[in-house]
Amino acid sequence: MIIVTGCAGFIGYHLCKNLLAQKHKIIGIDSVNEYYDPELKKSRLAQLLSTPDFSFHKIDICDFESMEKIFESSNPEIVCHLAAQAGVRYSITHPFAYQKSNNEGFLNILELSRRYKVKNFVYASSSSVYGKNSKLPFSEDDPVDQPISLYAATKRSNELTAFCYSHLYKLNTSGLRFFTVYGPWGRPDMALFIFTKAIIENRPIEIFNNGKMMRNFTYIDDIVDGIVRVINNPKPFEIYNIGNDRAENLLDFIAEIESCIGKKAIRNYQPMQMGDVPSTVADIRKIQSLGYQPKTNIDIGIRNFVNWYRDYYRV
Ligand SMILES: NC(=O)c1ccc[n+]([C@@H]2O[C@H](COP(=O)([O-])OP(=O)(O)OC[C@H]3O[C@@H](n4cnc5c(N)ncnc54)[C@H](O)[C@@H]3O)[C@@H](O)[C@H]2O)c1
Repeated sequence: MIIVTGCAGFIGYHLCKNLLAQKHKIIGIDSVNEYYDPELKKSRLAQLLSTPDFSFHKIDICDFESMEKIFESSNPEIVCHLAAQAGVRYSITHPFAYQKSNNEGFLNILELSRRYKVKNFVYASSSSVYGKNSKLPFSEDDPVDQPISLYAATKRSNELTAFCYSHLYKLNTSGLRFFTVYGPWGRPDMALFIFTKAIIENRPIEIFNNGKMMRNFTYIDDIVDGIVRVINNPKPFEIYNIGNDRAENLLDFIAEIESCIGKKAIRNYQPMQMGDVPSTVADIRKIQSLGYQPKTNIDIGIRNFVNWYRDYYRV
């Protein structure tokens, strides 16, 4: 039995689909909150619910008693904890949402994993923990004590708390530092979704730092492959970069979206935003030692997203 929190979210949904195809039994947890359109989350959930091996509880992970009942009745072997308040920019305006879900909620799931003797606790961290670091590519061995958003600070705090639980209670924990995940069913607050929607609707797109940004855009199927490898390889305490081994220039990424849509974007160049970093480039050698190798280039990945977008929104 595997508990996946954040199962109605972008990554959680794809992970559940993959695990269900491998005949795992999944208990999905999600509060289906309104950070972005809950209808998109419900559509993802509807697909998962069509599989008998998937059961769902609409619960906030901050509700310890309700979460404990689920652990008690299901005795999960594995917990994959993805539920969190995501987004760097939103953390500037909504700090307490991060304090609740990412600190309090995280501790609830970690503590229950300890009490119910889970064999592998895998959780979402973020490439944003690299904060002010300028040495590229980012390596798991680099010091990460200069986060530049509250979001990043909560994710780093998760890693430290996991270390403590691994050390004190011998709970196997693995943290995943995701690098800009994209693909079908993606998040409406992320660049690919925002740009695609704006270009289709003939609205301008805002390009921050005048486009001088490098990102390790990582396709969702590659990410899911990596998560499954980490789930299948419990370690006493580990942190993995999970990204692409190719970094893309933001302007090339936009050009690829324009080519897939068949229309030029109206470009509105803007300065750097608070909390944002100019480059996120991953050293992925550690997760590659588990057999992980990202396979999807942005031309294929963006095309898959644009096709999904047109189909889902009927445009
Ligand atoms: N997508 C990325 O590029 C990326 C990058 C770095 C880190 N991450 C991390 O990966 C994880 C999954 O990200 P995603 O892109 O799928 O985000 P998402 O927002 O699509 O999914 C998160 C899900 O968690 C749920 N949730 C939030 N707070 C909750 C709470 N208190 N109780 C129960 N459910 C709650 C939300 O309703 C949502 O469905 C998150 O922890 C995120 O911080 C994602």
